[in-house]
Amino acid sequence: MIDVAVLISGGGTNLQALIDACTDETFPARIALVISNNPGVKGLERAKKAGIPTKVINHRDFSSREAFDDKLHEALVESGSGLICLAGFMRILDARFVNRWKNKILNIHPSLLPSFKGLHTQERALEAGVRFTGCTVHFVNPELDDGPIIIQAAVAINPDDDADTLAAKVLTQEHIIYPQALKLVAEGRTMVEGSRVIIRDADYVSQMVINPKPE
Ligand code: GAR
Repeated sequence: MIDVAVLISGGGTNLQALIDACTDETFPARIALVISNNPGVKGLERAKKAGIPTKVINHRDFSSREAFDDKLHEALVESGSGLICLAGFMRILDARFVNRWKNKILNIHPSLLPSFKGLHTQERALEAGVRFTGCTVHFVNPELDDGPIIIQAAVAINPDDDADTLAAKVLTQEHIIYPQALKLVAEGRTMVEGSRVIIRDADYVSQMVINPKPE
């Protein structure tokens, strides 16, 4: 059983998916702390409702990114967390922070990385005319939305999709793959080799692969 901290900035539906997964006592992780850089967000309520300790570390209270990241680091160490899940955490973490937690930070991003890093992913996918998009859980490296990929799920784009319908379909898949990815990492099944994640026990993983179902 590993203690995990979840970092959020907003609504926290991915946090909720992780909270729900952790209610299964066979799940190999437990959420020890939820940190938000924004006060008053719904994700904090979700954590409190689940009895999980919360902290607001407001980046606006710090004079530099480094000072904010140091405060985060301190809170994370204090919580005893061995892993960090970024769940809609909309702050860039500096390289020093990321290197302190090398291969211990997971992030979820609403595109099939390395396509469409950054913001407005669904608008850009529609604009580019791609037929599939999706979501990715990856280990975080110092580049934005970059790092070894743990799991992806693909979503078919229909001609009548707009950014909102697409975001909703992708979000549904996010809630499936984030707990799966955390489970793999917490069970020690992932190994980072260069820029790739090797997963021990391929049969186990193939049961998790999500196939797009064109509608
Ligand atoms: C999710 O779609 C997540 O993938 C995205 O923010 C949303 C947060 O929703 N994250 C990023 O874009 C990070 N680059 P949530 O607060 O309901 O989990």
